[in-house]
Amino acid sequence: MKIVVIGAGYVGLVTGTCLAETGNNVVCVDCDRKKIDLLNRGHIPIYEPGLAELVMRNVSAGRLHFTTDQAAAVAKSHMVFLAVGTPPSEDGSVDVTALWTVVEGIAPHLNKCAIVVCKSTAPVGTNAKIAARLKELTGRDVDVASNPEFLQEGAAIDDFIKPDRVVLGVRRAEVAEILRDLYQPYLRTEKPLLVMSPESAEMTKYAANALLATKISFINEMANICELLGADINEVRRGMGFDNRIGFAFLFPGVGFGGSCFPKDVLALMAAARGQGVDPHVLEAVHRVNQAQKKLLVDKIERHFQGKLGNKAIAVWGLAFKPGTDDIREAPALTLIDRLLEHGAKLRVHDPVAMDNVRQAYGEKLVYCDRRDDALIGADALAIMTEWKQLVHTDFEEMGKLMRQKVIFDGRNIYNPQRMREAGYTYYSIGRPSVTPS
Ligand SMILES: NC(=O)c1ccc[n+]([C@@H]2O[C@H](COP(=O)([O-])OP(=O)(O)OC[C@H]3O[C@@H](n4cnc5c(N)ncnc54)[C@H](O)[C@@H]3O)[C@@H](O)[C@H]2O)c1
Repeated sequence: MKIVVIGAGYVGLVTGTCLAETGNNVVCVDCDRKKIDLLNRGHIPIYEPGLAELVMRNVSAGRLHFTTDQAAAVAKSHMVFLAVGTPPSEDGSVDVTALWTVVEGIAPHLNKCAIVVCKSTAPVGTNAKIAARLKELTGRDVDVASNPEFLQEGAAIDDFIKPDRVVLGVRRAEVAEILRDLYQPYLRTEKPLLVMSPESAEMTKYAANALLATKISFINEMANICELLGADINEVRRGMGFDNRIGFAFLFPGVGFGGSCFPKDVLALMAAARGQGVDPHVLEAVHRVNQAQKKLLVDKIERHFQGKLGNKAIAVWGLAFKPGTDDIREAPALTLIDRLLEHGAKLRVHDPVAMDNVRQAYGEKLVYCDRRDDALIGADALAIMTEWKQLVHTDFEEMGKLMRQKVIFDGRNIYNPQRMREAGYTYYSIGRPSVTPS
């Protein structure tokens, strides 16, 4: 199968590479020339575990190519995957400009029997609009499938090659069969390929992300209530999670959800509901709780230092919106950094992989520390914003020697409060009683 994937970002690059891995000939197209040049020089523009090896292998085998020449790539392909970004607009609705630019651009070059597959998360009804526009532009019916992507950054390759399910929104059974054949190598463990209407497929993606975001906001609200009532959210979480009807997934309290999907998809679904005259009560609450949660740790820092942060040095560990990625879109760490900078605090930041992206956004405003412990030098406090595994095991005594004050604000509950007390720290976390040195 000759495939073109348009948009070589987190989703497009993973999709293209994984489809090449099963023997297809794949061209990834992007309008960002710098990104394509990097890829052609053997550099991977994003951090995603396992991706670099897979890209190299398929490039070497001659199955994976990168170009900015969309027209030529589309003209040679049987399948055109759309994986461009669909960011939020000011009002929370989806900005589908990139999707339409691509639709207009590919129309004159589409093969007669080419299938267009939309992987971008797009509002319900987008598939029908793309099909209608392509008919206007080409003068014929073009098959357009909706195939939402459920991969998680940090585990994207695994998620793609071992999906829980593949969702296909199609209008003709023949299109579903061609796509079933394409996905068949990834469904060998009897995972389902669910064929449905394009509208249902589009909605499935939003509903799934909205529920996961709801779980996070729910446990965060429980954590905040625990803190007020003297309960420990970790004990409560465990007490809940062993119930098979509840489970543990997405029930970790923290500093709120970020990333390029949950925040924007919740807002998009809210905008879609309001567009139909419906008040999305649950989604509004999920969004509101998350906005407040992203400020929670900095509120605690302000309270601890009685608002006097001007001469304080704060170390920040973890900048990516979650472990396993360099993606900082909507990352809670950025909310914290912005507020602390407003107070005039001096910030020494560290992240295992996201430092370049943060440097691009903040320039000289921050001190960037390649080594975790360097961020602690002279710090009045440490804020932990991403639960990277490499932050978990550390020598608290050595840390204390580097810091000016032994104060930790743990936004991801990676340490044990009792242990922190014994090690002589003032320790704040989420939904658990704070401790002071024993
Ligand atoms: N990132 C995720 O974890 C994830 C998961 C599931 C679904 N999605 C959805 O997948 C889509 C892509 O997300 P992403 O995170 O990969 O975005 P991204 O920003 O990482 O990548 C998008 C790419 O599209 C390129 N692009 C934009 N306009 C273009 C054009 N006209 N022609 C060619 N290329 C163009 C950009 O340069 C960029 O490289 C979004 O709709 C998103 O909601 C993302």
